[in-house]
Amino acid sequence: MRTQVGIIGAGPAGLFLAHLLKAQGIDSVILEARSRTYAEGRVRAGVLEPGTVETMARLGLDARLRREGLIDEGLDMRFRGRTIHLDLPELTGRSVVIYGQQEVVKDLMAARVEAGDPLIFEAQVTRIEGIETESPRIHYTEGGESRVLDCEFVAGCDGYHGAGRAAMPQDRITLFEQVYDFAWLGVLARARPMADMTYSNSDRGFALCSRRSMQVSRLYLQVPVDANPEEWSDSRFWEELHARMFDEDRSEIAEGEIFQRDLAKLRAFVAAPMQHGRLFLAGDAVHIVPPAGAKGLNMAVADVRVLSHALTAHYRDGSRTALEAYSATCLERVWKTVRFSSALTGLLHRFDEHSPLQRNLQLAELEYVAGSRNAQAAIAEQYVMLNYLKDLP
Ligand code: APR
Ligand code: PHB
Repeated sequence: MRTQVGIIGAGPAGLFLAHLLKAQGIDSVILEARSRTYAEGRVRAGVLEPGTVETMARLGLDARLRREGLIDEGLDMRFRGRTIHLDLPELTGRSVVIYGQQEVVKDLMAARVEAGDPLIFEAQVTRIEGIETESPRIHYTEGGESRVLDCEFVAGCDGYHGAGRAAMPQDRITLFEQVYDFAWLGVLARARPMADMTYSNSDRGFALCSRRSMQVSRLYLQVPVDANPEEWSDSRFWEELHARMFDEDRSEIAEGEIFQRDLAKLRAFVAAPMQHGRLFLAGDAVHIVPPAGAKGLNMAVADVRVLSHALTAHYRDGSRTALEAYSATCLERVWKTVRFSSALTGLLHRFDEHSPLQRNLQLAELEYVAGSRNAQAAIAEQYVMLNYLKDLP
């Protein structure tokens, strides 16, 4: 098999890239290790920045998003029993849209399959060859058989554990990483959500109330990394959430059946550069943010917008300038986004290693944000617009 761009991974990065390239008349094949059912079922975050929403609209992939997405105009942060309310349109002129990442993935996969464009499931990439030549080859196994995809460029969109980053010359790549010693226990519950996205920093730890629809809440608690989600019964979860949200009389947060539980470890990670020869990395393959701020999907979409623009310039006018600048162009935004997500994590969680002095400094920062419109505007602007690429299609 042969194509112009071989894409490894059918997460948001790989799927958006394939659609963006197709819109420019560039062929690609997506190789995805997992089954379609598995890939569509992975529960992740669900906050779309305007840049992501506009990209879906430009690709004509936003019909369900427009029907089912919830426009979110508020971001609340609680501490000491008080609430800082950030009015996103008032502070930034924009808002975000709540729409689960797996819904985005379902929509993009359905459009790809319906168009009859190649998206091969249960195709595990094992090795990438010839990235320093003009004809790299991707080796993969499908149904127990070894196969090869010949291409002109390789896009490693295959997440943190993928084959893309592993194929980079290890002496040319620098890894930056911080692993946190706590995790997020996430649940989905059939319960009316709170009106606003609400983060809380309580003495008992961090909590977050988000939503997926008017009937389904997406809720998170900071827990130890070795916590077992099955040990969090419904009643234990609700009790802890009420306490951390300062909802002592349990009147504010509606309870309901918890039908999904997952544990996410927290990590900040960047690999640089994001390219070598004809191999280009995008999304979680090359950077991970801690989940506060819900930036992962938005970063991945922005990466592949830069990449598809650069590949278009190459195929259309033979220009290599944008391709050569891909990594540098992305990394400036990536570092800002990792910084924002890390800062929000630092502001809102309880750290075992914090001394009483550090705990007071954290609360002082929240007091400052509570009293300063400028501080609120800085947070709101980054929450909404960090991955907006105003000069790109
Ligand atoms: N061969 C083929 N596919 C692979 C391989 C491999 N060797 N290794 C991993 N994959 C697939 C995974 O099964 C997964 O479907 O690559 C895909 C990577 O998708 P994501 O992990 O969703 O990563 P990305 O597309 O970069 O999306 C970034 O998604 O992971 C979340 O939190 C992350 O929100 C962020 C966003
Ligand atoms: C989510 O809705 O899953 C979500 C929202 C905000 C975050 C992280 C996750 O910061």
